[in-house]
Amino acid sequence: MSILIKNGRIITASADYTADVFIEGERISHIGENLNIKADEVIDAAGKLVMPGGIDPHVHLDMPFMGTFSSDNYETGTLAALHGGTTTVIDFILQKQGKSLKAAYDEWTGRANGNAYGDYSFHIAVTDFNNETQKEISYFINELGITSFKTFMAYKGALMIDDRQMVGLMNEVKKHGGMVTVHATNGDMIDYLVAKHKSEGKLSPLYHYLSQPEITESEATSRFADMAFNTGVPAYIVHMTCEGSLNAVRRAQLRNQKVYAETCIQYLLLDASLYEKDFEGAKWVMSPPLREKKDQTSLWGGINQGIVQIVATDHCPFNWEQKLMGKDDFSKIPNGHPAIENRMELLFSEGVNKGKISLNKYVEVTSTNSAKIFGMFPRKGTIGIGADADIIIFNPNEEHALSAKSHHMNVDYSGYEGWKLKGKCKQTILRGKLAVDNGKVRIDKGYGKFIKREKHKEVV
Ligand code: URP
Ligand code: ZN
Ligand code: ZN
Repeated sequence: MSILIKNGRIITASADYTADVFIEGERISHIGENLNIKADEVIDAAGKLVMPGGIDPHVHLDMPFMGTFSSDNYETGTLAALHGGTTTVIDFILQKQGKSLKAAYDEWTGRANGNAYGDYSFHIAVTDFNNETQKEISYFINELGITSFKTFMAYKGALMIDDRQMVGLMNEVKKHGGMVTVHATNGDMIDYLVAKHKSEGKLSPLYHYLSQPEITESEATSRFADMAFNTGVPAYIVHMTCEGSLNAVRRAQLRNQKVYAETCIQYLLLDASLYEKDFEGAKWVMSPPLREKKDQTSLWGGINQGIVQIVATDHCPFNWEQKLMGKDDFSKIPNGHPAIENRMELLFSEGVNKGKISLNKYVEVTSTNSAKIFGMFPRKGTIGIGADADIIIFNPNEEHALSAKSHHMNVDYSGYEGWKLKGKCKQTILRGKLAVDNGKVRIDKGYGKFIKREKHKEVV
Protein backbone atom coordinates (compact mmCIF):
# COMPACT_ATOMS: atom_id res chain seq x y z
CA MET A 1 0.00 0.00 0.00
CA SER A 2 1.35 3.45 -0.89
CA ILE A 3 -0.05 6.96 -0.54
CA LEU A 4 1.14 10.18 -2.19
CA ILE A 5 0.12 13.42 -0.48
CA LYS A 6 0.42 16.26 -3.01
CA ASN A 7 1.08 19.97 -2.49
CA GLY A 8 0.38 20.21 1.23
CA ARG A 9 1.92 22.78 3.55
CA ILE A 10 4.07 20.61 5.79
CA ILE A 11 4.40 21.82 9.37
CA THR A 12 6.73 20.23 11.88
CA ALA A 13 8.03 21.61 15.17
CA SER A 14 10.78 23.40 13.28
CA ALA A 15 9.79 23.67 9.60
CA ASP A 16 7.08 25.09 7.34
CA TYR A 17 7.27 24.35 3.60
CA THR A 18 5.23 23.05 0.67
CA ALA A 19 6.07 19.61 -0.72
CA ASP A 20 4.76 16.14 -1.50
CA VAL A 21 5.02 13.20 0.90
CA PHE A 22 5.26 9.61 -0.30
CA ILE A 23 4.31 6.80 2.05
CA GLU A 24 5.30 3.20 1.42
CA GLY A 25 3.93 0.59 3.81
CA GLU A 26 3.90 2.04 7.32
CA ARG A 27 6.61 4.67 6.82
CA ILE A 28 7.40 7.90 5.01
CA SER A 29 9.92 7.16 2.26
CA HIS A 30 10.21 10.39 0.23
CA ILE A 31 9.54 14.08 0.74
CA GLY A 32 10.11 16.54 -2.10
CA GLU A 33 8.65 18.96 -4.60
CA ASN A 34 6.63 17.52 -7.50
CA LEU A 35 7.29 13.88 -6.63
CA ASN A 36 6.49 11.77 -9.65
CA ILE A 37 5.89 8.37 -8.05
CA LYS A 38 3.02 6.02 -8.77
CA ALA A 39 0.89 5.44 -5.68
CA ASP A 40 -2.16 3.34 -4.77
CA GLU A 41 -3.85 6.46 -3.44
CA VAL A 42 -3.21 10.15 -4.14
CA ILE A 43 -4.45 12.82 -1.74
CA ASP A 44 -4.63 16.42 -2.93
CA ALA A 45 -3.61 18.53 0.07
CA ALA A 46 -3.39 21.91 -1.68
CA GLY A 47 -4.53 24.62 0.75
CA LYS A 48 -4.28 22.20 3.66
CA LEU A 49 -1.80 21.70 6.46
CA VAL A 50 0.07 18.39 6.64
CA MET A 51 1.16 17.76 10.22
CA PRO A 52 2.34 14.90 12.44
CA GLY A 53 -0.50 12.94 14.03
CA GLY A 54 -1.25 14.12 17.53
CA ILE A 55 0.13 12.26 20.54
CA ASP A 56 -1.92 12.56 23.71
CA PRO A 57 0.17 11.27 26.62
CA HIS A 58 -2.60 11.52 29.21
CA VAL A 59 -5.78 9.51 28.71
CA HIS A 60 -7.81 7.09 30.83
CA LEU A 61 -9.63 4.44 28.79
CA ASP A 62 -11.82 1.81 30.43
CA MET A 63 -10.36 2.83 33.78
CA PRO A 64 -11.81 1.56 37.04
CA PHE A 65 -12.16 4.74 39.12
CA MET A 66 -14.37 6.05 41.93
CA GLY A 67 -16.73 3.09 41.82
CA THR A 68 -17.24 3.02 38.06
CA PHE A 69 -15.32 2.84 34.75
CA SER A 70 -14.42 5.69 32.38
CA SER A 71 -16.92 5.41 29.54
CA ASP A 72 -14.57 5.25 26.55
CA ASN A 73 -12.75 1.97 26.07
CA TYR A 74 -9.81 1.25 23.73
CA GLU A 75 -12.13 0.84 20.79
CA THR A 76 -14.26 3.96 21.17
CA GLY A 77 -11.54 6.14 22.70
CA THR A 78 -8.81 5.55 20.14
CA LEU A 79 -11.29 5.84 17.27
CA ALA A 80 -12.60 9.16 18.58
CA ALA A 81 -8.97 10.26 18.91
CA LEU A 82 -8.32 9.42 15.23
CA HIS A 83 -11.38 11.42 14.17
CA GLY A 84 -9.86 14.45 15.87
CA GLY A 85 -6.29 13.94 14.58
CA THR A 86 -4.65 12.10 17.48
CA THR A 87 -2.91 8.94 16.29
CA THR A 88 -1.19 7.76 19.50
CA VAL A 89 -2.28 7.89 23.13
CA ILE A 90 -0.56 6.94 26.36
CA ASP A 91 -2.90 5.46 28.95
CA PHE A 92 -2.28 4.73 32.64
CA ILE A 93 -2.09 1.27 34.15
CA LEU A 94 -3.03 1.53 37.84
CA GLN A 95 -1.37 -0.84 40.31
CA LYS A 96 -3.82 -2.08 42.98
CA GLN A 97 -2.41 -1.48 46.44
CA GLY A 98 -1.20 -4.80 47.84
CA LYS A 99 -0.81 -6.30 44.35
CA SER A 100 2.08 -6.37 41.86
CA LEU A 101 2.72 -4.04 38.92
CA LYS A 102 2.67 -7.06 36.61
CA ALA A 103 -0.85 -8.03 37.72
CA ALA A 104 -2.07 -4.55 36.76
CA TYR A 105 -0.20 -4.74 33.45
CA ASP A 106 -1.96 -8.04 32.64
CA GLU A 107 -5.34 -6.55 33.47
CA TRP A 108 -4.78 -3.51 31.23
CA THR A 109 -3.35 -5.43 28.29
CA GLY A 110 -6.38 -7.73 28.52
CA ARG A 111 -8.61 -4.72 27.96
CA ALA A 112 -6.47 -3.14 25.22
CA ASN A 113 -5.23 -6.09 23.13
CA GLY A 114 -6.97 -6.34 19.79
CA ASN A 115 -9.41 -3.56 20.60
CA ALA A 116 -7.62 -0.34 19.63
CA TYR A 117 -8.00 1.55 16.38
CA GLY A 118 -5.17 3.96 17.20
CA ASP A 119 -1.67 3.30 18.53
CA TYR A 120 -1.19 3.33 22.27
CA SER A 121 1.34 2.94 25.01
CA PHE A 122 1.15 2.80 28.80
CA HIS A 123 2.52 4.62 31.79
CA ILE A 124 2.45 2.47 34.93
CA ALA A 125 1.09 4.08 38.10
CA VAL A 126 2.92 2.89 41.19
CA THR A 127 0.43 3.14 44.05
CA ASP A 128 2.27 0.88 46.52
CA PHE A 129 6.07 1.11 46.41
CA ASN A 130 7.62 -1.70 48.46
CA ASN A 131 10.46 -4.23 48.20
CA GLU A 132 8.52 -6.38 45.75
CA THR A 133 7.48 -3.48 43.52
CA GLN A 134 11.05 -2.23 43.50
CA LYS A 135 12.17 -5.47 41.85
CA GLU A 136 9.68 -4.98 39.00
CA ILE A 137 10.91 -1.54 37.85
CA SER A 138 13.77 -2.76 35.70
CA TYR A 139 11.50 -5.30 33.93
CA PHE A 140 9.02 -2.59 32.96
CA ILE A 141 11.73 -0.32 31.56
CA ASN A 142 14.01 -2.85 29.91
CA GLU A 143 11.62 -5.58 28.80
CA LEU A 144 8.20 -4.01 28.33
CA GLY A 145 9.28 -0.58 27.08
CA ILE A 146 7.12 1.12 29.69
CA THR A 147 9.55 3.75 30.85
CA SER A 148 7.41 6.30 32.72
CA PHE A 149 6.15 5.73 36.27
CA LYS A 150 3.12 7.68 37.41
CA THR A 151 2.63 8.69 41.01
CA PHE A 152 -0.26 10.27 42.87
CA MET A 153 0.23 12.68 45.75
CA ALA A 154 -3.57 12.62 46.29
CA TYR A 155 -6.47 10.08 46.32
CA LYS A 156 -5.37 8.67 49.69
CA GLY A 157 -6.33 5.04 50.35
CA ALA A 158 -6.51 4.16 46.67
CA LEU A 159 -3.69 5.68 44.66
CA MET A 160 -1.61 8.04 46.84
CA ILE A 161 1.93 7.21 47.94
CA ASP A 162 3.82 9.03 50.70
CA ASP A 163 7.08 10.92 50.28
CA ARG A 164 9.17 8.03 51.56
CA GLN A 165 7.78 5.76 48.86
CA MET A 166 8.21 8.57 46.34
CA VAL A 167 11.96 8.97 46.92
CA GLY A 168 12.41 5.18 46.97
CA LEU A 169 10.68 4.91 43.61
CA MET A 170 12.61 7.87 42.19
CA ASN A 171 15.96 6.32 43.10
CA GLU A 172 15.03 2.99 41.53
CA VAL A 173 13.63 4.54 38.35
CA LYS A 174 16.69 6.78 38.02
CA LYS A 175 18.96 3.71 38.30
CA HIS A 176 17.31 2.10 35.27
CA GLY A 177 16.90 5.17 33.05
CA GLY A 178 13.17 5.89 33.42
CA MET A 179 11.09 8.90 34.34
CA VAL A 180 8.72 9.66 37.24
CA THR A 181 5.51 11.55 36.53
CA VAL A 182 3.09 12.95 39.06
CA HIS A 183 -0.42 14.05 39.86
CA ALA A 184 0.86 16.82 42.09
CA THR A 185 -1.72 17.92 44.62
CA ASN A 186 -1.54 17.72 48.41
CA GLY A 187 -3.93 14.85 49.21
CA ASP A 188 -4.07 15.45 52.96
CA MET A 189 -4.92 19.14 52.62
CA ILE A 190 -7.62 18.28 50.07
CA ASP A 191 -9.09 15.51 52.24
CA TYR A 192 -9.28 17.96 55.15
CA LEU A 193 -11.12 20.55 53.06
CA VAL A 194 -13.49 17.96 51.56
CA ALA A 195 -14.43 16.74 55.05
CA LYS A 196 -14.85 20.31 56.32
CA HIS A 197 -17.16 21.30 53.46
CA LYS A 198 -19.22 18.14 53.85
CA SER A 199 -19.60 18.68 57.60
CA GLU A 200 -20.92 22.17 56.83
CA GLY A 201 -23.49 20.74 54.40
CA LYS A 202 -21.70 22.25 51.38
CA LEU A 203 -22.25 19.48 48.86
CA SER A 204 -22.51 21.00 45.38
CA PRO A 205 -19.83 20.74 42.62
CA LEU A 206 -18.60 24.22 43.55
CA TYR A 207 -17.13 22.69 46.72
CA HIS A 208 -15.07 20.27 44.68
CA TYR A 209 -13.33 23.36 43.35
CA LEU A 210 -13.12 25.05 46.75
CA SER A 211 -11.58 21.89 48.28
CA GLN A 212 -8.60 22.06 45.92
CA PRO A 213 -7.28 25.65 46.06
CA GLU A 214 -4.21 26.58 44.05
CA ILE A 215 -1.88 26.18 47.05
CA THR A 216 -2.71 22.43 47.25
CA GLU A 217 -1.24 22.07 43.77
CA SER A 218 1.68 24.50 43.91
CA GLU A 219 2.89 23.06 47.24
CA ALA A 220 2.86 19.49 45.90
CA THR A 221 4.48 20.50 42.61
CA SER A 222 7.28 22.24 44.44
CA ARG A 223 7.78 19.30 46.86
CA PHE A 224 7.80 16.78 44.03
CA ALA A 225 10.31 18.86 42.05
CA ASP A 226 12.58 19.07 45.10
CA MET A 227 12.46 15.31 45.66
CA ALA A 228 13.24 14.73 41.99
CA PHE A 229 16.14 17.20 42.19
CA ASN A 230 17.53 15.40 45.19
CA THR A 231 17.38 12.00 43.48
CA GLY A 232 18.32 13.24 40.00
CA VAL A 233 15.44 11.45 38.27
CA PRO A 234 13.86 13.02 35.16
CA ALA A 235 10.47 14.29 36.27
CA TYR A 236 7.19 15.26 34.64
CA ILE A 237 4.16 17.04 36.07
CA VAL A 238 0.84 15.94 34.57
CA HIS A 239 -2.22 18.20 34.18
CA MET A 240 -0.66 21.37 35.57
CA THR A 241 -3.30 24.06 35.97
CA CYS A 242 -2.03 27.16 37.73
CA GLU A 243 0.38 30.03 38.08
CA GLY A 244 1.78 28.75 41.41
CA SER A 245 2.75 25.38 39.95
CA LEU A 246 4.17 27.01 36.85
CA ASN A 247 6.43 29.08 39.09
CA ALA A 248 7.55 25.94 40.93
CA VAL A 249 8.47 24.30 37.61
CA ARG A 250 10.23 27.43 36.41
CA ARG A 251 12.36 27.48 39.61
CA ALA A 252 13.28 23.82 39.07
CA GLN A 253 14.17 24.35 35.42
CA LEU A 254 16.33 27.35 36.37
CA ARG A 255 18.57 25.06 38.40
CA ASN A 256 18.95 22.98 35.25
CA GLN A 257 16.75 20.19 36.47
CA LYS A 258 15.09 17.81 34.00
CA VAL A 259 11.52 18.61 34.95
CA TYR A 260 8.81 18.81 32.31
CA ALA A 261 5.26 20.08 32.51
CA GLU A 262 2.04 19.16 30.79
CA THR A 263 -1.12 21.18 30.87
CA CYS A 264 -4.45 20.11 29.38
CA ILE A 265 -6.68 21.81 26.86
CA GLN A 266 -9.42 22.48 29.41
CA TYR A 267 -7.12 24.45 31.71
CA LEU A 268 -6.27 26.77 28.83
CA LEU A 269 -9.85 27.33 27.68
CA LEU A 270 -12.28 26.84 30.58
CA ASP A 271 -12.42 28.44 34.01
CA ALA A 272 -13.91 27.89 37.44
CA SER A 273 -16.97 30.04 36.80
CA LEU A 274 -18.49 26.83 35.33
CA TYR A 275 -18.80 25.46 38.87
CA GLU A 276 -21.41 28.12 39.62
CA LYS A 277 -23.95 26.31 37.37
CA ASP A 278 -25.34 24.16 40.23
CA PHE A 279 -25.13 20.44 39.46
CA GLU A 280 -24.37 21.03 35.78
CA GLY A 281 -20.91 21.98 37.05
CA ALA A 282 -20.35 18.21 37.51
CA LYS A 283 -19.51 18.08 33.79
CA TRP A 284 -16.23 19.78 34.66
CA VAL A 285 -15.53 18.11 38.00
CA MET A 286 -11.98 16.94 37.53
CA SER A 287 -8.82 16.99 39.60
CA PRO A 288 -7.18 19.43 39.74
CA PRO A 289 -10.24 21.61 39.07
CA LEU A 290 -10.52 24.36 36.49
CA ARG A 291 -8.82 27.55 37.69
CA GLU A 292 -9.02 31.26 36.99
CA LYS A 293 -8.39 33.53 34.01
CA LYS A 294 -5.04 34.62 35.47
CA ASP A 295 -3.94 30.97 35.44
CA GLN A 296 -4.88 30.62 31.78
CA THR A 297 -2.72 33.65 31.01
CA SER A 298 0.18 32.07 32.90
CA LEU A 299 -0.22 28.72 31.11
CA TRP A 300 -0.24 30.28 27.61
CA GLY A 301 2.88 32.22 28.67
CA GLY A 302 4.44 29.03 30.02
CA ILE A 303 3.86 27.28 26.68
CA ASN A 304 5.46 30.08 24.70
CA GLN A 305 8.40 30.30 27.09
CA GLY A 306 8.99 26.53 26.87
CA ILE A 307 8.27 25.93 30.57
CA VAL A 308 5.24 23.84 29.61
CA GLN A 309 6.11 21.32 26.88
CA ILE A 310 2.84 19.46 26.26
CA VAL A 311 -0.89 20.10 25.91
CA ALA A 312 -2.73 16.84 26.67
CA THR A 313 -6.34 16.06 27.65
CA ASP A 314 -6.50 13.85 30.76
CA HIS A 315 -9.43 12.37 28.83
CA CYS A 316 -11.50 10.59 31.48
CA PRO A 317 -15.14 10.62 30.36
CA PHE A 318 -18.19 9.66 32.39
CA ASN A 319 -21.78 9.62 31.18
CA TRP A 320 -24.26 11.87 32.90
CA GLU A 321 -25.76 8.96 34.79
CA GLN A 322 -22.31 8.27 36.23
CA LYS A 323 -21.84 11.93 37.18
CA LEU A 324 -25.17 11.69 39.02
CA MET A 325 -23.48 9.35 41.53
CA GLY A 326 -22.45 12.59 43.20
CA LYS A 327 -25.77 14.40 42.99
CA ASP A 328 -25.96 14.87 46.76
CA ASP A 329 -22.23 14.83 47.50
CA PHE A 330 -19.57 16.42 45.28
CA SER A 331 -16.91 13.99 46.57
CA LYS A 332 -18.74 11.12 44.85
CA ILE A 333 -18.82 12.71 41.37
CA PRO A 334 -16.43 10.67 39.20
CA ASN A 335 -13.56 12.99 38.34
CA GLY A 336 -12.80 13.68 34.71
CA HIS A 337 -14.03 15.14 31.43
CA PRO A 338 -14.00 14.13 27.74
CA ALA A 339 -11.61 15.75 25.23
CA ILE A 340 -9.61 13.08 23.38
CA GLU A 341 -11.38 13.95 20.08
CA ASN A 342 -11.39 17.71 20.56
CA ARG A 343 -7.85 18.61 21.68
CA MET A 344 -6.24 19.12 18.27
CA GLU A 345 -9.08 21.18 16.81
CA LEU A 346 -9.66 23.20 19.99
CA LEU A 347 -6.00 24.13 20.34
CA PHE A 348 -5.76 25.02 16.68
CA SER A 349 -8.85 27.20 16.70
CA GLU A 350 -8.31 28.88 20.07
CA GLY A 351 -4.51 28.87 20.05
CA VAL A 352 -3.20 29.17 16.48
CA ASN A 353 -6.12 30.93 14.82
CA LYS A 354 -6.41 33.40 17.69
CA GLY A 355 -2.68 34.20 17.59
CA LYS A 356 -1.74 32.72 20.97
CA ILE A 357 0.75 30.16 19.62
CA SER A 358 2.55 29.64 16.31
CA LEU A 359 1.95 26.69 14.00
CA ASN A 360 5.33 25.22 14.88
CA LYS A 361 4.57 25.51 18.59
CA TYR A 362 1.24 23.80 17.92
CA VAL A 363 2.99 20.75 16.46
CA GLU A 364 5.58 20.81 19.23
CA VAL A 365 3.04 20.71 22.09
CA THR A 366 0.50 18.38 20.47
CA SER A 367 2.95 15.81 19.10
CA THR A 368 6.72 16.28 18.90
CA ASN A 369 7.45 16.95 22.57
CA SER A 370 5.40 13.94 23.68
CA ALA A 371 7.37 11.73 21.29
CA LYS A 372 10.67 13.14 22.59
CA ILE A 373 9.91 13.13 26.30
CA PHE A 374 8.32 9.68 26.22
CA GLY A 375 10.88 7.88 24.05
CA MET A 376 9.13 7.60 20.66
CA PHE A 377 11.06 10.20 18.63
CA PRO A 378 11.83 10.31 15.69
CA ARG A 379 9.69 7.28 14.87
CA LYS A 380 6.70 9.35 15.93
CA GLY A 381 6.12 13.08 16.43
CA THR A 382 7.47 14.40 13.14
CA ILE A 383 7.24 14.20 9.37
CA GLY A 384 10.57 12.85 8.20
CA ILE A 385 11.98 10.09 6.04
CA GLY A 386 11.81 6.77 7.89
CA ALA A 387 9.25 7.99 10.42
CA ASP A 388 5.94 6.22 10.93
CA ALA A 389 3.45 7.72 8.51
CA ASP A 390 1.22 9.18 11.24
CA ILE A 391 -0.06 12.26 9.46
CA ILE A 392 -3.05 14.55 9.58
CA ILE A 393 -4.38 16.63 6.74
CA PHE A 394 -5.99 19.67 8.24
CA ASN A 395 -8.16 22.41 6.76
CA PRO A 396 -7.23 25.58 8.69
CA ASN A 397 -10.28 27.49 7.46
CA GLU A 398 -13.16 25.05 7.82
CA GLU A 399 -15.72 26.12 10.41
CA HIS A 400 -17.67 23.61 12.48
CA ALA A 401 -19.29 23.25 15.89
CA LEU A 402 -18.63 20.76 18.68
CA SER A 403 -21.54 18.76 20.03
CA ALA A 404 -22.33 15.51 21.83
CA LYS A 405 -24.73 14.84 18.93
CA SER A 406 -21.89 14.58 16.45
CA HIS A 407 -18.81 13.57 18.42
CA HIS A 408 -17.50 9.99 18.44
CA MET A 409 -16.57 9.73 22.10
CA ASN A 410 -18.74 7.35 24.12
CA VAL A 411 -20.15 10.02 26.39
CA ASP A 412 -23.51 11.73 26.33
CA TYR A 413 -22.40 15.32 26.87
CA SER A 414 -19.70 17.62 25.57
CA GLY A 415 -17.69 19.95 27.77
CA TYR A 416 -17.69 22.30 24.76
CA GLU A 417 -21.28 22.00 23.50
CA GLY A 418 -21.96 24.48 20.69
CA TRP A 419 -18.43 25.88 20.55
CA LYS A 420 -17.74 27.17 17.05
CA LEU A 421 -14.27 26.28 15.82
CA LYS A 422 -12.21 27.21 12.79
CA GLY A 423 -9.90 24.43 11.63
CA LYS A 424 -10.85 20.79 11.04
CA CYS A 425 -8.97 17.53 10.74
CA LYS A 426 -10.04 16.09 7.36
CA GLN A 427 -7.90 12.97 7.05
CA THR A 428 -5.90 10.95 9.55
CA ILE A 429 -3.23 8.52 8.41
CA LEU A 430 -1.91 6.00 10.91
CA ARG A 431 1.20 3.99 10.03
CA GLY A 432 0.53 4.32 6.32
CA LYS A 433 -3.20 3.61 6.36
CA LEU A 434 -5.84 6.22 5.74
CA ALA A 435 -7.63 5.59 9.01
CA VAL A 436 -10.28 8.31 8.88
CA ASP A 437 -11.17 9.95 5.58
CA ASN A 438 -13.57 12.89 5.81
CA GLY A 439 -15.38 11.28 8.71
CA LYS A 440 -15.36 7.74 7.24
CA VAL A 441 -13.46 5.04 9.09
CA ARG A 442 -11.25 2.98 6.78
CA ILE A 443 -9.39 0.71 9.18
CA ASP A 444 -10.57 -2.12 11.42
CA LYS A 445 -10.61 -2.47 15.15
CA GLY A 446 -7.29 -3.95 16.25
CA TYR A 447 -5.15 -1.99 13.76
CA GLY A 448 -3.84 0.13 16.63
CA LYS A 449 -0.79 -1.38 18.24
CA PHE A 450 1.15 -1.13 21.46
CA ILE A 451 4.22 1.10 21.11
CA LYS A 452 7.25 0.00 23.09
CA ARG A 453 9.09 3.12 24.23
CA GLU A 454 12.79 3.93 24.65
CA LYS A 455 14.40 5.22 27.81
CA HIS A 456 14.16 8.96 28.28
CA LYS A 457 17.08 10.71 26.60
CA GLU A 458 16.00 13.77 24.70
CA VAL A 459 15.88 17.13 26.43
CA VAL A 460 13.32 19.45 24.87
O1 URP B 1 -10.14 14.28 37.21
C1 URP B 1 -9.29 13.56 36.72
N1 URP B 1 -8.16 14.12 36.41
N2 URP B 1 -9.54 12.26 36.51
C2 URP B 1 -8.63 11.29 36.07
C3 URP B 1 -7.65 10.85 37.10
C4 URP B 1 -6.53 11.84 37.26
O2 URP B 1 -6.32 12.35 38.34
O3 URP B 1 -5.83 12.12 36.30
ZN1 ZN C 1 -4.50 13.19 37.97
ZN1 ZN D 1 -5.37 11.68 34.53
